[in-house]
Amino acid sequence: MCGIIGGICKKNITPLLLKGLKRLEYRGYDSAGLVVLTTDNTLQRVREAGKVDNLVSNIDAQNLDGKVGIAHTRWATHGKPSTKNAHPHICNNSVGVVHNGIIENFLALKSEQQKQNYHFTSDTDTEVIAHGIHLALQTCENLLEATQKAIKTFAGAYSIGVISPTNPGHIIAARSGSPLIIGVGKYGNFITSDQVALLDVTKQFIFLEEGDIADISANSISIFDKNGLQVEREIKTSKLKNGQISKGNYAHYMQKEIFEQPQAISDTLESRITKDKVMIEAFGNDAQQIFQQVEHIQIIACGTSYNAGLVAKYWLEDIAKIPTHIEVASEYRYRNPVILDNTLFITISQSGETADTLEALRSVKKRNAAVHSLTICNSAESSLVCESELTFLTHAGVEIGVASTKTFTTQLVALALLSVVIGKCQKQVSEQQEKVIVDGLKRLPGLIAKALEQEGQIIKLAKTFKNKFNALFLGRGAMHAIAMEGALKLKEISYIHAEAYPAGELKHGPIALIDRDTPVIAIAPKDELLDKLKSNLQEVKSRGSHMIVFEDEASNVAPMEGMDIIPITHNLGRITAPIIFTIPLQLLSYHAALIKGTDVDQPRNLAKSVTVE
Ligand code: G6P
Repeated sequence: MCGIIGGICKKNITPLLLKGLKRLEYRGYDSAGLVVLTTDNTLQRVREAGKVDNLVSNIDAQNLDGKVGIAHTRWATHGKPSTKNAHPHICNNSVGVVHNGIIENFLALKSEQQKQNYHFTSDTDTEVIAHGIHLALQTCENLLEATQKAIKTFAGAYSIGVISPTNPGHIIAARSGSPLIIGVGKYGNFITSDQVALLDVTKQFIFLEEGDIADISANSISIFDKNGLQVEREIKTSKLKNGQISKGNYAHYMQKEIFEQPQAISDTLESRITKDKVMIEAFGNDAQQIFQQVEHIQIIACGTSYNAGLVAKYWLEDIAKIPTHIEVASEYRYRNPVILDNTLFITISQSGETADTLEALRSVKKRNAAVHSLTICNSAESSLVCESELTFLTHAGVEIGVASTKTFTTQLVALALLSVVIGKCQKQVSEQQEKVIVDGLKRLPGLIAKALEQEGQIIKLAKTFKNKFNALFLGRGAMHAIAMEGALKLKEISYIHAEAYPAGELKHGPIALIDRDTPVIAIAPKDELLDKLKSNLQEVKSRGSHMIVFEDEASNVAPMEGMDIIPITHNLGRITAPIIFTIPLQLLSYHAALIKGTDVDQPRNLAKSVTVE
């Protein structure tokens, strides 16, 4: 949700800014821009609507020469995507600002600033930051003090980078509600929304904390906390490798990430299971004590992570026998839920920075001190990890495709492990049951590799979607949640309207949608609901729609005209089945999107990490 990169070093910063923007593009890609402080100490800015490549092709990187600069790739909130709304925003050729977040009181600030003759050239909330700092500079010693003074007037969420000819050797960086990281280099220092943007120049990072403001020069970094006190923040060495963020031989990041799932799942299981047991400590040192006390579970998440939580509700109630509720974060945070003592509050998030999820956690902690929190997250240094009592890190590696794939299946693995450990702590899971589940989890990488072999057949099926605008996904039990994830993937990347329904609910409304132009995709595992599902398939078939059924070989769905049946594997268990049946749905949406000719890795209007509400 908007990407920031900036730097101050001993050589021209422009090529680094442009390369960094490309790597941050997954965070937003509707316009991009940069401003550098040139050798004659003036702010020189270039902005373009559209993707970073538009900006790159309009910049002569060697001739836009400056050693200090900030850059931004935008996901529009206030003001439509256009050049005039692209960042950086500049005030009176004296303050340049890039911003990620939303300044909620920008209308009030704007009207005050207009009275003071500040002229607005964009429709963004960000412009008030540039003017506010400029105003403060009139009475402050330097850019740091001016930024400190100005941010006191901002309400909302922000991470910002600021430069000015007034203090040419400095970048000011501030974080409140949106992530910002400092890269510590040998020949300069940098700021970024995500480490991946800086891996070419450094692996040393400082993760700013809430309310921090930093004064950064080429050879010094001073950080002040929310009370204005100078503080030391640890420098951490990133384990990320540059190779992890390349597409390799794949056409898209999404395709690469789908095929990385066997490895991502092995990595997530590593050191979390023994021969036939799940290790409770994998969830943190206090996990055992907390899980013994838990009486209720509340799961909160957004998007794909929410769908993972839906599957977990089935597992946690079935295996651990704990009443479990799940809700999307943007709803939960704004209502007055009853929060019982001894509730385990679980957040699930790839990024760990999703604003709604984070705020839901914060609000729960304020309302009831007797809840415990656990986050299942793919980002070790994220806000959710920092603010949760217990953490389980999925080891999916960097996921760049905007549509989540490997982070979903690794979240499911984490939630399966969680169901077992809570079940053990509650004395609901026998050693034998645990062994069966662990055996199933160990088979996952091989089973996924086998499911991926169906790609050829799925490519043929994807042609069905060429001229289609609607699709229906059906599943029962936990497979309804997998159907929801399948529908979400199709919507996100191929722009086909897709809905998922529990197959038994079909006759209460959605069956009216079924016609020849609405393909129906059904998931048919071999489970206790199979016969019911088979009846539902008959109901659909008799309405003339084209059906695609992904089945367990043991399900033996009877072939019918106009129905494609694709066996995925055989005799899957209740934990392995939802994970394995996810794979053909991911491949189907990927190939449907290719046929539709959409931008698979950067679908329209979306961003990977949504750090605004
Ligand atoms: C955005 C992304 C989704 C993601 C959701 C939640 O909407 O486009 O792919 O599932 O945010 O993100 P999180 O990082 O919290 O899992």
